[in-house]
Amino acid sequence: MFTALLESLPFPPRVPFMGGPTPIQKSRLAWGDASLYWKRDDLTPYGLGGNKLRKLEFLMAEALSQKADLIITSGGPQSNHARLTAVVSTMMKLPSVIVIPGETPTEWGGNLLLDRLAGAEIIACGEEPLDQAVARIASEKKTQGYQPYTIPLGGSNALGSLGYFLAFFELLMQAEEQGWTPSTLVCSVGSAGTLAGLVAANALLPHPLRLVGVSVWQSANQLRPQVETLATASLKLLHAPCPLAPFEIVDQFVGPGYGLPTPASSKVLIECFRTDGILFDPVYTAKGVVAVKHLMQHESRKYPEAFVFWHTGGGPAIFDKHYYTELLRYT
Ligand SMILES: Cc1ncc(COP(=O)(O)O)c(C=O)c1O
Repeated sequence: MFTALLESLPFPPRVPFMGGPTPIQKSRLAWGDASLYWKRDDLTPYGLGGNKLRKLEFLMAEALSQKADLIITSGGPQSNHARLTAVVSTMMKLPSVIVIPGETPTEWGGNLLLDRLAGAEIIACGEEPLDQAVARIASEKKTQGYQPYTIPLGGSNALGSLGYFLAFFELLMQAEEQGWTPSTLVCSVGSAGTLAGLVAANALLPHPLRLVGVSVWQSANQLRPQVETLATASLKLLHAPCPLAPFEIVDQFVGPGYGLPTPASSKVLIECFRTDGILFDPVYTAKGVVAVKHLMQHESRKYPEAFVFWHTGGGPAIFDKHYYTELLRYT
């Protein structure tokens, strides 16, 4: 149904990491009258999966076109984005540098372990602002003779967001084939590129879906303009400028802050693991699922149709000592 539309758009080149659509799983949880589906982007190929692979298809193609011989990115120590960047870089025989805030870690669990196994160089930048440190390191590497390509935090720019523009239509086509219609689509929001790609794609539908982003860090007021700017820029890249449809951002499930689990996120993670056999991560997707549960319990009459939660991955983070120690309190 959307094939003609997609074929008419001038997508930039991609490295085809995805291989095909990710599965959709119907949940056995009963949080309201509506059905709940998980879109399993935790099962994207390579390096234990996650949403960033879709963005990296475009970003790594740009790195290749610029003849980069070093990939630099940044993120928190348990960054899923940094892990997947390290994995695809090494698969493409490119060295990678991951810049993290604070001191050099003393424990190497979860994503940090995988970063090391992928051969990434991990540079802790202490108190220096992350952006500044990334720019400094890129310039130092240039002086050493490298041609670095820097991927922004979370892979979130207009180009990376195109990964979720495509993903949106992948979901609609799968649902159509399976004979159901998504109505409310929910995802976690960090650096905003995932939601922005979905918002950009939704703008092209005659009857847009309800999109809800669940912040894991910033306030809704901070996020909204970031999502709008990215979505608009992605549409511009496709030469398809058009007004965005409304979307919602909820920010009441962040808890004490970025990277910090809440009792609700820990409990829901365990509930979903025990009911559907799905592993969420404690600080991105589990907080998103807390929001889904809340919405379904409070809004089933208003929105009786299918809810979809976009499982953007992050499971490896639970093998970080801080996170598993916290989770064990609820077992
Ligand atoms: C598991 C997981 N889910 C969701 C997100 C949020 O995606 P975005 O940064 O595109 O908003 C991230 C970001 O790092 C993530 O690691």
